Amino acid sequence: MRIVLVGPPGAGKGTQAQFIASHLSVPKISTGDIFRDNVSRGTELGRRAQAYMARGDLVPDEVTIAMVTDRLGEDDAQNGFLLDGFPRNVPQAEKLSKLLASWHTKLDVVLELVVDDDEVVRRLSGRRTCRRCGRVWHVSFDPPTKPDVCDVCGGELFQRDDDSEDTIRHRLEVYQQQTSPLASFYADEGILLGIDATGPVEEVTERALASLRRFLR
Ligand code: AP5
Repeated sequence: MRIVLVGPPGAGKGTQAQFIASHLSVPKISTGDIFRDNVSRGTELGRRAQAYMARGDLVPDEVTIAMVTDRLGEDDAQNGFLLDGFPRNVPQAEKLSKLLASWHTKLDVVLELVVDDDEVVRRLSGRRTCRRCGRVWHVSFDPPTKPDVCDVCGGELFQRDDDSEDTIRHRLEVYQQQTSPLASFYADEGILLGIDATGPVEEVTERALASLRRFLR
């Protein structure tokens, strides 16, 4: 299955992506994770992306599209994938459609996670991420047993630089202006599936998998 997850910052894309990708046995490909990994390793790609990410702006399309094209060409993505955070605007969506068409395939479904802005701020201001395994936690909604230590691997938890309230508000504006038009783009293609992403994580996962069942081939 070839699936895209869209939704505002903090909608729970990364959280749901790990469960859905594992359930569907496809790789989870998160552009945000790939950029952050490159920033932490100090690569050329990381240096090009860093300032945009810190401000909450989109990294330029030519950088992002080249990176995703390379990643989708890897062996593990040939029979399906779950994209988290890409595409992020209509030009990226058009490039993705062309790329997949050149490989004689296409997206099966675009799953939109719907939450309001106040919930986004609550979720992101309490988010903690494991430096070692990438597991996402929340200080109130999904707390680890010991503060700042990952239950899964014992790694150190950190707060992302772009999770300050001002940057979160800016990321929401960028989402409204540049990413939200993707809903009508994919609705026109007949592959948009929106779900309510509020409530406990497990309930949202159940809702997502139940909605996806009719797209499973
Ligand atoms: P990216 O990493 O993709 O950030 P984002 O889209 O802003 O999304 P987030 O990762 O902040 O949120 P999420 O929806 O994954 O929520 P999560 O599951 O963590 O991108 C970062 C930056 O990289 C961009 O700003 C841009 O600069 C660049 N970039 C990336 N892709 C790009 C592209 N295609 N083009 C250009 N630039 C690009 O959950 C959030 C919190 O809520 C967690 O603490 C979690 O535990 C909690 N939570 C989750 N679900 C629930 C629930 N149901 N109830 C209560 N709490 C919950």
